Amino acid sequence: MVKPLKKAVMPVAGLGTRFLPATKAIAKEMLPVVDRPLIQYAVDEARAAGIEQFCFITGRGKTAIVEHFDVAYELEKTLEERGKTDILEELRALAMPPGSIVTVRQQVPMGLGHAIWCARSFIGDDPFAILLPDDLMLCDTPCMAQLAQAYAETGGNVVAIEEVPRERVNKYGVIAPGATKGNLVEVTGLVEKPPVEKAPSNLTVIGRYVLMPEVIGHLAKMEKGAGGEVQLTDGMAKLIGHQPFHGLRYEGRRFDCGDKVGFLEAQIAFALKRPELAPQVRGFLDRYR
Ligand code: UTP
Repeated sequence: MVKPLKKAVMPVAGLGTRFLPATKAIAKEMLPVVDRPLIQYAVDEARAAGIEQFCFITGRGKTAIVEHFDVAYELEKTLEERGKTDILEELRALAMPPGSIVTVRQQVPMGLGHAIWCARSFIGDDPFAILLPDDLMLCDTPCMAQLAQAYAETGGNVVAIEEVPRERVNKYGVIAPGATKGNLVEVTGLVEKPPVEKAPSNLTVIGRYVLMPEVIGHLAKMEKGAGGEVQLTDGMAKLIGHQPFHGLRYEGRRFDCGDKVGFLEAQIAFALKRPELAPQVRGFLDRYR
């Protein structure tokens, strides 16, 4: 029996430079896709995988993220008085149990590995999930639930992976694949943003992970990697050979909402999944052919 997966860390302390000026005063994770912010999709996905405790790694200008999960008493009262029961029920369904969210400040954005290390007290000795909210997932079975299922079967570390065209591997963390069983690929090596000619494969790690707490000890060394940042990939690579480590070819689609084109595509894809919006959206799309 593996230790149950109940904790998730959500790093939201990045600067979001690719989305400036929109992200000057608003956190990237608060940008909405259709009618809910990216952070909401990530939290819903984690809860659907049985996760109960959340740690947001925040930074300056990110307070709206925490506000979003608070009870908006005055707003609820006004909606109630005006008889707007549908939206009121929707808001109430989003409410998080008291004490389920903690926040930690990453004072300086020194990299994703550093952000995760900031959550060390929250993680303690437990396995934990990481969800990067700017990777928005459209999956029949929520992506984190697919990872949690794989973790329950294999134990150890499991990361979601996908194939990308070879010429783009230098933008991602890339795995060296070992034995494959169904959708699970043994990870025998990991490298962050390798030059295309040196990449061990075109299988890249996306923003969904289940990791063992031992990764924190490696991140604590604060070794700088690609781009001069403390890279999570480098910390994870140190676990290989000591603990099970698998990549899961998840079923579904990922939208990189940290990127303008990915974000626009996500709007369309998610709107088309909504029966009340799809016909109108299809209608206007025809005008742009
Ligand atoms: P990105 O690589 O997308 O960086 O981070 P970014 O700063 O958010 O955006 P750009 O590239 O400047 O446009 C991936 C994830 O890691 C978090 C980000 O918030 C995002 O969820 N992150 C990154 C941190 O929390 N701290 C860091 O120091 C770096």
